[in-house]
Amino acid sequence: MAEFSKIEPSYISKDGCRLIWKEVEEDDQHVIVLNKDEFEQIFEILLKDSTGIVRLEDEYSRILINTDVTQFQLKELKTLEVKTSILRKNVLEYRNVPHEPKPIKIYPKEFYPSIEIEKEDDDEQNKLLNAVLTSKNKDTVSESDLFRVMATRRSTRNFDVSKAIEQWKIEKILAAADTAPTAGNFQGFKLVYIKNREIKKRLVEAANNQPYVNAPLVLVFCIDPSRVKMNFPPEILTKFSLQDATLAAAYSQLAASALGLSSIWIGMLDEEKVKQIIESDLKPSSILCVGYPHQKRPPKSRRKLKELIRVIE
Ligand SMILES: Cc1cc2nc3c(=O)[nH]c(=O)nc-3n(C[C@H](O)[C@H](O)[C@H](O)COP(=O)(O)O)c2cc1C
Repeated sequence: MAEFSKIEPSYISKDGCRLIWKEVEEDDQHVIVLNKDEFEQIFEILLKDSTGIVRLEDEYSRILINTDVTQFQLKELKTLEVKTSILRKNVLEYRNVPHEPKPIKIYPKEFYPSIEIEKEDDDEQNKLLNAVLTSKNKDTVSESDLFRVMATRRSTRNFDVSKAIEQWKIEKILAAADTAPTAGNFQGFKLVYIKNREIKKRLVEAANNQPYVNAPLVLVFCIDPSRVKMNFPPEILTKFSLQDATLAAAYSQLAASALGLSSIWIGMLDEEKVKQIIESDLKPSSILCVGYPHQKRPPKSRRKLKELIRVIE
């Protein structure tokens, strides 16, 4: 059961707000973001102590304001409820005070793995990459056989946020991205490793309010067609870089599973909002959210191999 918790300012737009519900038993939250118009409509109804319906931007979700209870019927989430009197108190109080989203200054940094190597010269290729990939830790998962990892991987949207990911695991996940094949080996992608908590929260909003985007490890994979120095039309270079970024994210996802972690791949995102949040000109292709799962679950079922494969002899 989710219980209404509070209203917060929106992270992205300066108008509108975020309505937060918390799961009573799990440390999980549901967020509904209202734009300026939607918030004004709900405010007007509650101010007049009236009842009514507010339809949300996605043309499916709606808010039913009744005398006792207000229901939020949503496309992606289960229906959320709150006592109308509680909602009225929160909305009227919220509206009384001007709210501005807090600007965040981003300080991009270079990435330095904890493993130190002597000067990386041209004779010994991939020295640092290999050092990170092959470094052994006392907790290294022994059963990281690739096929076992594939057979047991399962996405999670429910991370144990109290459990931090060990730095050496993060480094292996990042390094794994750099081992993926890329078109012409031009590595037409960029990986943005989000450490900043506020930025993670903003990414939730940019990813259709999927709360699990605020995960212990958040990686944004972006396409970088300008790196693909091949004599092909721009649309081909864009396709190549999209495939590069996708493969890299898949390699990182498998690496995370091999290290006993779980992840969720986020494809449902607003490219422009993500670009704005991470202050980048590069289009994001996916966000990979990684952490320890609350509960390890068996993999999902797939169609039969026979149905997947068509043989041409
Ligand atoms: C291209 C792509 C986009 C996805 N986008 C989302 C997303 O936006 N939100 C989400 O919760 N899951 C997303 N997923 C995760 C899938 O729902 C999940 O991988 C699928 O249900 C199979 O489950 P499994 O990974 O446990 O095998 C996406 C996966 C892929 C490959």
